[in-house]
Amino acid sequence: MARLETAQAVSTALRNHLPLEDDVFDSLLPEPLGDRSSLYWTPLSVIEMASQWLIEAGARTVLDVGSGPGKFVVATALLTDLLVTGVEHRAALHAAAQGLVEILGVGDRVRLVHAPIDEVDMTQFDALYLFNPFGENLFAEEEQLDKTVALSEARYHEDVARMESTLERAPTGTLFLTYHGFGGRIPGSYFPMKSDFAGSDVLRLWRKSSDDASADSWCEVEGRINLAQTGPRKRAPGVGRRKP
Ligand SMILES: C[S@@+](CC[C@H](N)C(=O)[O-])C[C@H]1O[C@@H](n2cnc3c(N)ncnc32)[C@H](O)[C@@H]1O
Repeated sequence: MARLETAQAVSTALRNHLPLEDDVFDSLLPEPLGDRSSLYWTPLSVIEMASQWLIEAGARTVLDVGSGPGKFVVATALLTDLLVTGVEHRAALHAAAQGLVEILGVGDRVRLVHAPIDEVDMTQFDALYLFNPFGENLFAEEEQLDKTVALSEARYHEDVARMESTLERAPTGTLFLTYHGFGGRIPGSYFPMKSDFAGSDVLRLWRKSSDDASADSWCEVEGRINLAQTGPRKRAPGVGRRKP
């Protein structure tokens, strides 16, 4: 199928909540990005579940933290009327996302930022979505997506700590969605609202229910749905070497 026809089929299917194979959506991505999809980009079944939960929870704006080639951002914009922002530090992925936005005609509700996450005020959104964006810093070189950005264990801890600080500063009512976790602690002021098996892991929705900074913090543990209420936060825990 020609790219324009595929885009039309993808747009129609998602806008009408009809079944759509990931392979069809991924064929709109430049090679080899489509081939990396099953490991690095959120499956459509997870995006459908996430967007439904966000609507039910009353969100209007959502930020995809580490948005890759825009699969979550663009599919969410087609499935809902949310205002969706993506921040991505890799130039090629940002450009691929711009291409998706254009061909799928969602530019009115999508904003793409080409930057590292520290250049965005992440407390300004109703909801944040994270598909284990920082884990790649801990992978062996051959498992990393590419070498166009600096990755290191030090950066992993910086980004995880930045995310933890964002969660602490975010306003009461902020929604937080994790898929494959993010490696850090979630303040005890967040309440786990929903979780379900999705794709290759668990999708979990949290809501900040108070500004109480003294509460314990939560840890999303490998082994899927285990949640441990931990003691006061000392430092970000590492995650295993699993891929995102
Ligand atoms: C596992 S992929 C998920 C992509 C997208 N959110 C999705 O679900 O399809 C994580 C993405 O986060 C990006 N990323 C990681 N650390 C980042 C940072 N500090 N600033 C901006 N982007 C980052 C990576 O380049 C990668 O594209």
